[in-house]
Amino acid sequence: MPNKATLELDGKTFEFPVYLGTENEIAMDISSLRSVTKGLITLDTGFKNTGSCSSKITFLDGEKGILRHRGYSIEELTQKGTFLEVAFLIIFGELPTTAQFKKFENDIKGQSMINEEMKDIVVGFPKSAHPMGMLSALTSALTAFNPGIVNVNSEEDMYNAVVKILGKFPVLASWAHRRRNGLPLNYADNSLDYISNLMQLMFKIPTEEYKINPIAVKAMDELLILHEDHEQNCSTSTVRIVGSSGAGLFASLSSGVSALWGPLHGGANQAVIEMLEAIQADGGDVDKYIDKAKDKDDPFRLMGFGHRVYKNFDPRARIIKKACDNLFEDLNLNDPILAIAKKLEAVALEDPYFVEKKLYPNVDFYSGIIYRALNIPVEMFTVMFAIGRLPGWIAQWKEMRENGEPIGRPRQLYIGETLRPFKPYNER
Ligand code: ACO
Repeated sequence: MPNKATLELDGKTFEFPVYLGTENEIAMDISSLRSVTKGLITLDTGFKNTGSCSSKITFLDGEKGILRHRGYSIEELTQKGTFLEVAFLIIFGELPTTAQFKKFENDIKGQSMINEEMKDIVVGFPKSAHPMGMLSALTSALTAFNPGIVNVNSEEDMYNAVVKILGKFPVLASWAHRRRNGLPLNYADNSLDYISNLMQLMFKIPTEEYKINPIAVKAMDELLILHEDHEQNCSTSTVRIVGSSGAGLFASLSSGVSALWGPLHGGANQAVIEMLEAIQADGGDVDKYIDKAKDKDDPFRLMGFGHRVYKNFDPRARIIKKACDNLFEDLNLNDPILAIAKKLEAVALEDPYFVEKKLYPNVDFYSGIIYRALNIPVEMFTVMFAIGRLPGWIAQWKEMRENGEPIGRPRQLYIGETLRPFKPYNER
């Protein structure tokens, strides 16, 4: 492996160091490019070739369909771990001991109360507001109720900020759901584990006992583990770049929620179900929608297909498809949407357009069907994704601050007008 790369420009030669990652990924360090070449920058719209940081959290290989957190495979983590255990691993670097886990879980529970005045903000939202908008705003509002600055050099301060947001975020997420549905805002039940508590936060009504369904809890736990981190995706990069300005954890996380909302990112799980429902309402003609997706003049895309990084298969989609089948069997469910999804997948995987462009089902293709089976309303799907991704955002923000990374500030190639004189109205 060469340890430098050479660039020739205008008869001059420049050398740049090449680094090797622990999984043999290679990166050319161009941080001196602009200064040594007197102005040359790289242009990489969408950052398809640009590494924004070095990270120890997540490794993924899009060609081989590998996803690992801190060295542990996603397959093993979903089989053997719990959401909170994996969160600890992702955030702090190692799997917790029993004592560490007990403390972590208890400390999170200790942070599950939210200032009652936050409820005034919740009821200020129209009921029609999208829960992702509410969640983003409420996460940001936490800053106002917790104004202390986190000293990133203090392990204790960092730990306290981590457990605080992990304790409060599911409560805020459930409030967004309950506001939309005219339900009283619920409190956490600290006798329950993290995922069971999340379920009761969402669904418990004051007039009835809420029975925890262990099958549903297990499915939700697995689904959320699958979403915990995915290295430098759109929302995570957003969290890191917002935090790089010195913005606090809650403000940075709020921007991550907004980035996740988009239909090309976390909003895809909602878009998948809406697409499947539309196909069902239209008579279930899968081929028609395959043709629409292939038509360059039609903006329609097969939602839940394709991925920026995974070009052979998304390992999370494999796990989720199995989890979906298990859940339907365990709960003895039958959803016509699932049959349409399976047909769509089968047709697309044989179609040259999708095969040649390496478009495979991604994590969102089946996650929405599981959420639907768990009675999560469609507009809450992306909120569930956000709850799952929270540990990843926290870990990436923490790593970025601990590394002392500089403020993120990309360059651009200006292609606009050159200097021209300002003309008064009557001359324009
Ligand atoms: N349906 C039909 N055609 C598609 C699809 C799709 N879902 N995805 C990509 N293509 C086509 C594009 O039209 C393009 O064709 P062209 O080369 O002829 O112009 C080619 O495949 C490459 O697509 P890009 O958009 O350039 O690929 P990119 O890596 O930028 O985008 C993305 C990846 C955004 C995920 C895209 O595949 C997509 O829009 N998928 C649907 C939305 C979705 O499921 N998003 C969830 C992603 S996973 C997550 O965020 C958790």
